[in-house]
Amino acid sequence: MTKTVRTCGKLYLAGEYSVLTEGQGAILKNIPIYMTGKIHFSERYQLFSDMFDHTVDLTPDDEYSLIQDTVAVMNEFLQSRSISLRPFFLTITGKMEQDGKKFGLGSSGSVVVLTIRAITALYGLALSAEETFKLAAYVLLKRGDNGSMGDVACIAYEDLIYYQSFDRKRIAEQINESPLESILAQDWGTVIRRIQPHHPFDFFVGWTKEPAISRDLINQVKSAISSSFLTQTQEEVLRLEKALLAGEKEIMKESLEKVSHLLAELSPAIYNEKLRALKRASQGLDCVAKSSGAGGGDCGIALSFSETDSQILVERWQGAGIDLLYKERWGMDE
Ligand code: PMV
Ligand code: MG
Repeated sequence: MTKTVRTCGKLYLAGEYSVLTEGQGAILKNIPIYMTGKIHFSERYQLFSDMFDHTVDLTPDDEYSLIQDTVAVMNEFLQSRSISLRPFFLTITGKMEQDGKKFGLGSSGSVVVLTIRAITALYGLALSAEETFKLAAYVLLKRGDNGSMGDVACIAYEDLIYYQSFDRKRIAEQINESPLESILAQDWGTVIRRIQPHHPFDFFVGWTKEPAISRDLINQVKSAISSSFLTQTQEEVLRLEKALLAGEKEIMKESLEKVSHLLAELSPAIYNEKLRALKRASQGLDCVAKSSGAGGGDCGIALSFSETDSQILVERWQGAGIDLLYKERWGMDE
């Protein structure tokens, strides 16, 4: 029997770069653009992703290393629960890109969570969002990933979240020394809170169509991260979380403007020309816009509190060559 699972994309609202430091927070939004995984038991292992043009087994393959590493960790996890392993055929579709250009919605994190969900569905296991997050972060840390793991947290929880990062160095060091089960059983010190926004407003995602590589930007920018950047960003992230919950529009705008300004000051690599245009488009409107994630391309986000201004914002984006990738109305539950 074939099982089908899916995973979303994610985008940062606030806290980029700051969240790379243990104890610092960020706010991330799940984006319902999905990857799909289909899996069934088979005679031998077969893995296929539509990102590539070939199918592999578990023989190491450069292109499939992320998926293969996830399968290896999951097999270790299953064995730790005394489940006997059986080979399977996993097919992954829905690359988060258009005309060969990625959206920058966290496809690598999404592939890891997708592979975990597929395997657990196949074996009939139910994992919590927290367990899924920890397994995905474990896979990425084992591979030497230099990210904050905010992406996999958002994708595993599939929600608007506040994510506070843990001591990744400590967990990474334990990977070679302690069994998977004991690492998973520990409290990593991560804080994750779901946020249910109050007060209706529009959320927009603008795509610059200029792919950026987070890993390279992190390496380029990280030395500029100062304690004053961290303190100020954290203050605004917490203010934004509260404002979202309470529906305080002026504070949402202020805090997003402030974190945006802090990012622009951090490094000129973050706000490239397209992202500057994306932000400029909100001028004079009842809106706020900023770059999202590492910057240098990919996507930016906007919140709009007026229907007519929403229209103007999107028109300005179009004029600047920025595609409206996704929009959503928030805070409609009450
Ligand atoms: O560009 P993205 O969406 O991969 O976001 C990167 C955000 C950083 O804070 C710069 C890095 C990280 O992993 O948190
Ligand atoms: Mg990016």
